[in-house]
Amino acid sequence: MPTPNELLEIATTVARRAAALALQRRRDGVEIAASKSTITDIVTRADQEAEDLIRGALEASRPRDGFLGEESGGERGSSGLTWVVDPIDGTVNYFYDIPAWAVSVAVVEGDPDPATWRTLAGAVVNPSTGEVFTASLGGGARLNGEPIRVNEGVELPLALVGTGFGYDPEIRRKQAAFVTELIPQVRDVRRIGAASLDLCSVACGRLDAYYERGLNPWDHAAGALIAQEAGATVGGLDGAPAGKALLLAAAPGLYGQLDPLVQAYYQRWE
Ligand code: IPD
Ligand code: CA
Repeated sequence: MPTPNELLEIATTVARRAAALALQRRRDGVEIAASKSTITDIVTRADQEAEDLIRGALEASRPRDGFLGEESGGERGSSGLTWVVDPIDGTVNYFYDIPAWAVSVAVVEGDPDPATWRTLAGAVVNPSTGEVFTASLGGGARLNGEPIRVNEGVELPLALVGTGFGYDPEIRRKQAAFVTELIPQVRDVRRIGAASLDLCSVACGRLDAYYERGLNPWDHAAGALIAQEAGATVGGLDGAPAGKALLLAAAPGLYGQLDPLVQAYYQRWE
């Protein structure tokens, strides 16, 4: 079994290669390949090409591992490890040339299900800024090789809180309703548009907290480990691990203040 650090090396190398490809495609001009869950949930040719590159590279170097990618789906492996990949997180930013999109590559142990998996390593690369966020389990979190830490000691009224919205209009309406409850109680709210970068922003102190409902495994696999290794508490709904029902990440003190508000709202969601 490779060490988390060896796996991180592989994750970072493939994420960097896919980032270079996607950046080149962005410069060449972006082509929409299809829309998915709704007309605004788009996939570009570059999403598909970047995922193909990552999948091919991992098949060559880690042939017994499984794979779960946003664009090409899942395949079980026999090693007990699965690579969880978002080839372009923040596709709408990518389409509009807003420099907040990322390639996210993580490797997890156990079923590729956030309820039970153990994330061993993760890399998130923002090609527009050249920033590479990395973490291995127990090995700390880094930005371009330098250790990063969450902001500690921020009280709720001074907290800068990131969130995101799903693609389904009905779900967005409910998510926006909670923002109207939250915004008078905090410094401000940001919607950056890439869940992986929101989590890395918590990790390096550009956000104090981040929460979202409706995330898919590839949106948060790498970023959640990076936030956690930088000192964040990362959790889900009602004491469950982070997942589709909820992901909340913040330094432990702020987590304790934000969690009851988020839980109360999401409990009465249905
Ligand atoms: C989306 C982004 C967005 C978040 C959505 C995700 P995509 O991923 O991370 O910030 O709010 O929930 O689906 O579609 O750009 O890969
Ligand atoms: Ca995504």
